[in-house]
Amino acid sequence: MINNETMQSILARRSYKVFDSRPIDDEALETIVTAGLYAPTGMNRQPWHFTVIRSKEGLERFAEARRSLPLPPGMPPQAAAAFGDPMRNAPVMIIVSANEEGTAYEDCCLAMENMFIAAASLGIMSGWDHATVRDVFEHDPEARAEFIPEGNKIYAAAFFGYPGPEVKDRGERKGTVEYK
Ligand SMILES: Cc1cc2nc3c(=O)[nH]c(=O)nc-3n(C[C@H](O)[C@H](O)[C@H](O)COP(=O)(O)O)c2cc1C
Repeated sequence: MINNETMQSILARRSYKVFDSRPIDDEALETIVTAGLYAPTGMNRQPWHFTVIRSKEGLERFAEARRSLPLPPGMPPQAAAAFGDPMRNAPVMIIVSANEEGTAYEDCCLAMENMFIAAASLGIMSGWDHATVRDVFEHDPEARAEFIPEGNKIYAAAFFGYPGPEVKDRGERKGTVEYK
């Protein structure tokens, strides 16, 4: 394997559940967002809308909507505490949404992965939030209207921040690869 800087960033990227509260500066954030905008898209449609939540008010508004989501029944106290930490301490959240035409799903996921790798190249890690964002906005349509363009579907949502104290072991890669 050729171990160039791009490969090092791909290998360095890890999913984090908790972040350091250190802010992400404008230049770093612009770099991450630009990487997303340069992802490939079906028929070069570039269908996405990136909602970058980073202001104190924006983060608090999302957190408020998140807190109003009812706890899933039977959730143990430790998990409930984590559930109550809406931003996992992250200074930035990015939601990628688009209409449902063509290859929007693939396009948005590719944009998010580009952003993850660009972030990792700067020492910034990420954490995909699969269901929570959709649940939050389903539960709070007013918040949805504030963050997501009308008619758009949410395809990808992730937190970004400098890594918290979690120690990440890369572990084995399990997918199969076949050369023919
Ligand atoms: C579609 C998708 C959904 C995910 N959902 C969550 C999630 O809801 N919560 C979470 O903590 N991590 C989530 N992850 C992160 C995965 O758990 C993580 O990518 C996987 O364990 C491999 O670890 P790594 O990203 O550090 O290599 C998700 C990842 C993907 C691609």
